[in-house]
Amino acid sequence: MKTQKTKEGKVELRVPVEKTYQAAVFYNPEARLTRDISVAALQVFQKQFKDKLSVLDALSATGVRGLRYAKEVKNLGNITLNDKNPLAFNLIRKNIKLNKPKKCLATKKDANLLMRENVFGFIDLDPFGPPVQFLDSAARSVYHKGFLAVTATDLTALCGAFPDACFRKYGLRSKKTDYYDELGMRILISAIIRTMAIYERAFIPVLSFSSKHYFRVFGKIEHSGNIKSLLKEFKYVEDVGLLYLGKIQDKKFCKEVLREVKKRKFDKSEIKLLETIIDEVDTPFYFDLHKIAKKHKIELRKIDGVIQKLKKKGFKASRTHFCSTGIKTNVEENGLLRVLRR
Ligand SMILES: C[S@@+](CC[C@H](N)C(=O)[O-])C[C@H]1O[C@@H](n2cnc3c(N)ncnc32)[C@H](O)[C@@H]1O
Repeated sequence: MKTQKTKEGKVELRVPVEKTYQAAVFYNPEARLTRDISVAALQVFQKQFKDKLSVLDALSATGVRGLRYAKEVKNLGNITLNDKNPLAFNLIRKNIKLNKPKKCLATKKDANLLMRENVFGFIDLDPFGPPVQFLDSAARSVYHKGFLAVTATDLTALCGAFPDACFRKYGLRSKKTDYYDELGMRILISAIIRTMAIYERAFIPVLSFSSKHYFRVFGKIEHSGNIKSLLKEFKYVEDVGLLYLGKIQDKKFCKEVLREVKKRKFDKSEIKLLETIIDEVDTPFYFDLHKIAKKHKIELRKIDGVIQKLKKKGFKASRTHFCSTGIKTNVEENGLLRVLRR
């Protein structure tokens, strides 16, 4: 496999010369946003954890994520970079040599086996497609006060194009709605919470975002005593099933992540994403202004003006990172329509 040198964050890397989806080992430079935010989020969690945190980059490909954790996050313990693909494993070893991080180990195991045999403080699951086939092992492996990050890229299933595939994988049926992105995210989070609960772990979502072609969720693992209050947040949603409608962001945690992102001078788009998340009203789902205006044949208004009007009337209202034309508010559809018609 032909490789070339590149740089991301504080890490130098050899990556395949071929384009992302043609290469024998996966590397997508465009996924830098999620890796930057992951570095910042892990630093925030590490500070709260206080002790040295052992890390597993379970599906590592070139090793970029794990290496960035090693070089950019302070006070971590051992960091394991794992990939079952032998070409990826060899590249990870080369990239470890190139960067000389402390306490980094490359392994070539099936991620499920590796997690069944070891305990880690932080597990990062960044698979192709759905993460569900790794969740049971992660639940057994993650430290009972640890941290878990999960990516899902099977958005066609999660966002309503393939409801049966979604049901098969996540136990809930997706559907086409105006707020399909957040519905998909909540289906993913519901599956994580339920799987962790089987193993007496409470998964508390602290930062969740949708970007381009993937969802990313970070959650703290807490004492099983917290499972009951998490399960209370599952409500029946028509055609979908029992869905988690509780908080998907911990605003205090998100603000600290934003501080880390700014301190590290990461990209402006990451600052904008986090600021939008921090401002979002904590209520499930949103109205897509364009769709609602079209449906009710109402003149299209500027989104910021509508938000101001709703606030003046005493309602909560904000933009949402899920949709550039979306509004999160605690007013019902009829109330919103009255504001739009005036
Ligand atoms: C999307 S890529 C990971 C990308 C990487 N985390 C990054 O940020 O660039 C998924 C990787 O998982 C590996 N993989 C898939 N199934 C696996 C399994 N059961 N055990 C270990 N590795 C696996 C693939 O070889 C592939 O390299």
